[in-house]
This record gives sequence, C-alpha cells and structure tokens, in this order.
Amino acid sequence: MEEKERLQKFMAECGIASRRKCEEIILQKKVKVNGQVITELGVKVDNNDVVEYDGKIISKENEKVYILLNKPIGYVTTVDDQFSRDTVLDLVKVNERIVPVGRLDMYTSGAIILTNDGDFVYKVTHPKHEIEKTYNVTIKGIITKEEVETLSNGVDIGDYITKKAKVKILKIDKEKNISRLEIVIHEGKNRQVRRMCEAIGKKVLALHRSKIGNLSVKDLKIGEWRYLRNNEIKFF
Ligand code: URA
Repeated sequence: MEEKERLQKFMAECGIASRRKCEEIILQKKVKVNGQVITELGVKVDNNDVVEYDGKIISKENEKVYILLNKPIGYVTTVDDQFSRDTVLDLVKVNERIVPVGRLDMYTSGAIILTNDGDFVYKVTHPKHEIEKTYNVTIKGIITKEEVETLSNGVDIGDYITKKAKVKILKIDKEKNISRLEIVIHEGKNRQVRRMCEAIGKKVLALHRSKIGNLSVKDLKIGEWRYLRNNEIKFF
C-alpha cells in the first residue's frame, strides 16, 4: 500500500515551492485536501487525495522541468508582478507551472534557471550550497588594482559585508573611460554586485550574469532558452 506523506512534501514534489515555503502556504490557508481547507501542519496525503492550491488541483503527474534562460534586460523575475511589467514567464511558455530560481534585477541580463521542482529551488538558492555565480560588469571610470583588491576581500554594502569574491579585470578602455570586470560571488544578496561597485564609488553601466555554477549562457542568444541536460541538473 502506498505510504502517505506530509502535505508540504507532496506539494514540493508537485513543484509548488520548497517544503518550507509550502508550510507557509498551508498556514496561510491556501490549500484544500478533499475539499477541506487545511489550517495547520501535520496533514498527510497520497495520490488518492485531491489536493488543491489556489483553486487548482495539483498532482505529481507533472514531470520536472529545468530551463536555462538568457534573460534580456527589461524583464523582471517575479511571477506575478504587481506593476504588470514583463516577466521572464512571458519569454518561456511551457505547460508546467515553473518559477525562477533566485532573481536577477530588471536591468541585469543573463543566466536564470526556471523549474517546477520546489526542492531544487531551495537547494540552489540556499547560501549554504555556495553555488558560484559569474557576472560581467561594465563600470564607469578606470578601476585600480587596489579597488579590485577591496572588492575581492569583501566590502560593506550597507547591511552586510560581502564574502571573498573572485574579481578579474577584463578590459580597461581609457578612451571611453570604462572598465569591464568579471566578478564571481556565491552569495545572493539583493542587488549585490551593483552595491559592491557602489561601495567602491563606481557606477555600474551594464551587468550580465554569464554563469550559474558551470552553466553558461554563452550559446544562447539574449531571450533564448533551453532545457537543462541530466548531467547539468545533477551538478546542483
Ligand atoms: N547583483 C546585482 O546587483 N543584480 C543582479 O541582478 C544580480 C546580482
């Protein structure tokens, strides 16, 4: 006989969100089991139970999908945008209920993963997994070796001191008065790279995430996406 499992685990396996987030959703009374609104944790279900979230029946039948998008600037990574701006879901039309893994600012382009696997979202975004993210940054002005050192060692971005980062100068263009850097970090504080550059007095002119771990978007045109291969999913 099939074992019953906790409702939040069942929901995560259906791709709703991470288990922890699903617990919050349950406590917000957004989930029904067999027509009854669930108000507390501890309920167990199996495939014979009818589970509804936000008025829709959810099931594990949906296969897990993992997508890599090369996000253009001008798109937000929120799912339901309160200002009705274009979102990454306008670019990736699939039947599964996918969500972005982490975030990229509206004016940042590059690599973002989308999936319907809630546990994967949790794993990839949790700081303890220390997944490296590589950014190409164009800043106004000529960066000095000392400033590179400061960025590498960690800077105070207001509410947080950043951990060590790998920072490389890619190009210095004295005529245009710009510098291009590669910055590799494994944290994901809000607007972290922009705030790191601001902390050394430099204005970011363009920001592109070229890699998440070893997943690169160099073979995708801006706005293009593809499914991840099995060996790429296992990396995380
Ligand atoms: N750092 C930023 O400043 N913005 C992003 O979108 C990602 C990292």
